Amino acid sequence: MLNAVVKFVTKPLGFAQLRYASQGLPQLSSEKYNMSRKSFGSVESSDVNFFKSILGDDRVLTDEGDVQPYNVDWLQHCRGQSKVVLKPKTTQEVSKILSYCNQKKLAVCPQGGNTGLVGGSVPVFDEIVLHLGLMNKVLSLDEISGVLLCESGCILENLDSHAREHNFIMPLDLGAKGSCHIGGNVSTNAGGLRLLRYGNLHGSLLGIEAVKADGTIIDCLGTLKKDNTGYHLKHLFVGSEGTLGVVTKVAIHCPIMPKAVTLGYFGVESFENVLRLLKAAKLSLGEILSAFEMADFDAITTTTKNFKISNPISDYPFYVLIETHGSHEGHDSEKLNQFLEEQMASGLILDGTIASEPAKIQSIWGLRESIPSAGLRDGYVFKYDVSLPLQHFYRLVPQLRAKLGDRASVVYGYGHVGDGNIHINLTVPEYTKEIHSELEPYIFEEVSKLKGSISAEHGIGFSKRNYVQYSKDQSALHLMRELKQLMDPNGILNPYKVLPEVK
Ligand code: FAD
Ligand code: MLT
Ligand code: ZN
Repeated sequence: MLNAVVKFVTKPLGFAQLRYASQGLPQLSSEKYNMSRKSFGSVESSDVNFFKSILGDDRVLTDEGDVQPYNVDWLQHCRGQSKVVLKPKTTQEVSKILSYCNQKKLAVCPQGGNTGLVGGSVPVFDEIVLHLGLMNKVLSLDEISGVLLCESGCILENLDSHAREHNFIMPLDLGAKGSCHIGGNVSTNAGGLRLLRYGNLHGSLLGIEAVKADGTIIDCLGTLKKDNTGYHLKHLFVGSEGTLGVVTKVAIHCPIMPKAVTLGYFGVESFENVLRLLKAAKLSLGEILSAFEMADFDAITTTTKNFKISNPISDYPFYVLIETHGSHEGHDSEKLNQFLEEQMASGLILDGTIASEPAKIQSIWGLRESIPSAGLRDGYVFKYDVSLPLQHFYRLVPQLRAKLGDRASVVYGYGHVGDGNIHINLTVPEYTKEIHSELEPYIFEEVSKLKGSISAEHGIGFSKRNYVQYSKDQSALHLMRELKQLMDPNGILNPYKVLPEVK
């Protein structure tokens, strides 16, 4: 067991080439969405003094310029009006802050790496931002079981590097890994690029420590794989997006680092053939298949154009990325090469390239992981993240292209086809309420008719809270409200998020 406390330096938002079409500040969320502030207390100078008595002057930000970045989300769709950012370093500090805020009815917005895509991580009005970035210590990594115990503000990529030093990997990987926190990942139940192989966080999360709205520390920080003693309370915090408690520590099961990684990148004629290829990959690659991703022509072309990177193969209507994680390099790359040959012969693959060298693997993954930010350079991006039965997976993309016509600069689809989860991005020159109201609730109605989920992995946050009913029955929503009332009776934790507005 490694018990050394490893501390990571928090990196700034690390998307090197990130650039937005608009240079100004986004519109205030309260105005854009015509919101009314709930009757919470307002932060007074006596409150700031109290926070400083716990954290010291340096970890209480009140200067407008210092606070600004914490008010704006990654997509630049939302802007809050917080005047205070608090940066605790310990669970006890989080507990004292929440206990005080609860008594004074001061609303709080927990924030991790602020890479969330549904506006959950930034305030709507003047909620206090509770930034977890200084809770960034790895507490232990068990060399045999692979159980990693760490604080919630650890950056995912740093944890993965640490795990790799000990022959493990983190069970999840996403394009935001250089900035997102493990606490944010747990709070959003992030999926990512290898869910197909390593499962979702409900399976990998062995234990959790969280602080309730009233400051009570809930210790469910077990490290056992099997533990059926009563209600599975840790799961309440998975995907609750900061509305039920603040996650302060986690225990995660890390899979062993694969000895061999191979990546194939293929051009495909039609979406039907993408599905045929998925079936063939499952049959031929079986237990070594670790990712099966797709992107359409517009997704790849927008990315190569905007980031001036090259596409390793020529133009095709669809692209598929297939990765294997195995234990024998020769064996695995032989399997993938044979797969490529067979599927070129069958006509499912039109062209392709296979990589087993880390640099080439990274550059192909880099292309895939840059898709989310590519459209931001061209205008305002409406982002949808839906689960659909595979036969309907791509259907909405042409439907939306037809609906918006030339009012959209580009509409594209990409995502985790192996998990039935498509991302649809629609770029328009600038935000208009008219286009917004043409898209919503239309898209959610369509998804609901097709028996899909309106949020596959990004969560509900602020921007989708009034559409949850398209994927949740009233009985389930009622229980969600009861749980919220039980755990946060004053509603101070991340108000205006997840639960639909009561009309
Ligand atoms: P934040 O954005 O800071 O917060 C997200 C939510 O969690 C908020 O509601 C916040 O209040 C809450 N929260 C954060 N920390 C805590 C805590 N310690 N306790 C309680 N609540 C907390 N998501 C996927 O699922 N799969 C992907 O493949 C994926 N790829 C992405 C790629 C890019 C380029 C970007 C920008 C985002 C991507 N995302 C993806 C979305 C996002 O990165 C994830 O949702 C991530 O898990 C958010 O982590 P974060 O630390 O940035 O959380
Ligand atoms: C992805 O799969 O790239 C992410 O979920 C981010 C996105 O859809 O924009
Ligand atoms: Zn995704």
